[in-house]
Amino acid sequence: MAAIFASSAFSQSEGNAMTAATPALRLDGVTRRFPSRSAPNGAFTAVADLRFCVRDGEFVSIVGPSGCGKSTILNLIAGLDQPSEGTVALHGELVTGASPHVGFMLQKDLLLPWRTIVRNVEFGLETRALSRSERRARAVRELNRCRIQELADRYPYQLSGGQRQRAALARTLAIDPDILLLDEPFSALDAQTKLVLQKSFAGTIAASGLTTLLITHDLTEAVAMSDRILVMSERPGRIIEEIEVDLPHRDNPIARQALQPARKFIAHLFDALHLDERIDV
Ligand SMILES: Nc1ncnc2c1ncn2[C@@H]1O[C@H](COP(=O)(O)OP(=O)(O)OP(=O)(O)O)[C@@H](O)[C@H]1O
Ligand SMILES: [Mg+2]
Repeated sequence: MAAIFASSAFSQSEGNAMTAATPALRLDGVTRRFPSRSAPNGAFTAVADLRFCVRDGEFVSIVGPSGCGKSTILNLIAGLDQPSEGTVALHGELVTGASPHVGFMLQKDLLLPWRTIVRNVEFGLETRALSRSERRARAVRELNRCRIQELADRYPYQLSGGQRQRAALARTLAIDPDILLLDEPFSALDAQTKLVLQKSFAGTIAASGLTTLLITHDLTEAVAMSDRILVMSERPGRIIEEIEVDLPHRDNPIARQALQPARKFIAHLFDALHLDERIDV
């Protein structure tokens, strides 16, 4: 079976990162506290002392119980929120505010209902110094890449849930991000659409070589799509385990999850998260 590391995420990632180039992403001692009237000292800790790196082109998933701080981590990386302690760096540069080089995609597609799909994809490019024809060319390129070119002139309400998520990915890729942050992008879809979309996303992401961080509750999805999985504890969220998924077919989750060793990884994640012992959600 492929190697499973139960070590600290920092030592593993840092070892990789230090011998290679500057990592695409580095979190160093990141803690985020939020004000709370009910907490004894007026604040509660959402995530504590996070230390990990993501290599250029790597696909990393984060799994953990609800409320352990997964979305908080993505907000900190995107610069939409600031750590109470510690630092976040993208390609060696400290994150101090919202970055135009971060592609962020959520469960909800947030497409603008009054714009056609191609004009939705153009939306993020409107603050860039591009001519109208350059914007259109880039949008069409992304629609092709996400294989929804025939939907260009439709409005969001005319698309299925899976098509809308593809359109949202096209819009996110159009800004040519350095890193892609995906917060449960498939969780609102039915099981079959989800499989098809996971495959479509995995193929597009692998072909583009984009560094990607995915948050998911779906442990099979994490194994099927990732190079590495970070497992978080209950709140305050810490990284309690790091798992290298050295299986083939990262660009094809359907093929990967059919592999026998994939099941061992999934079973291991169930254990790590103590899912069979939990009675509340
Ligand atoms: N801006 C905020 N102000 C106060 N508390 C917050 C804020 N954002 C998040 N929290 C709290 O921090 C904790 C972690 O929230 P977060 O949304 O990151 O969890 P999560 O792991 O993404 O959960 P889920 O799996 O349910 O999406 C929760 O207790 C949440 O209520
Ligand atoms: Mg969340």
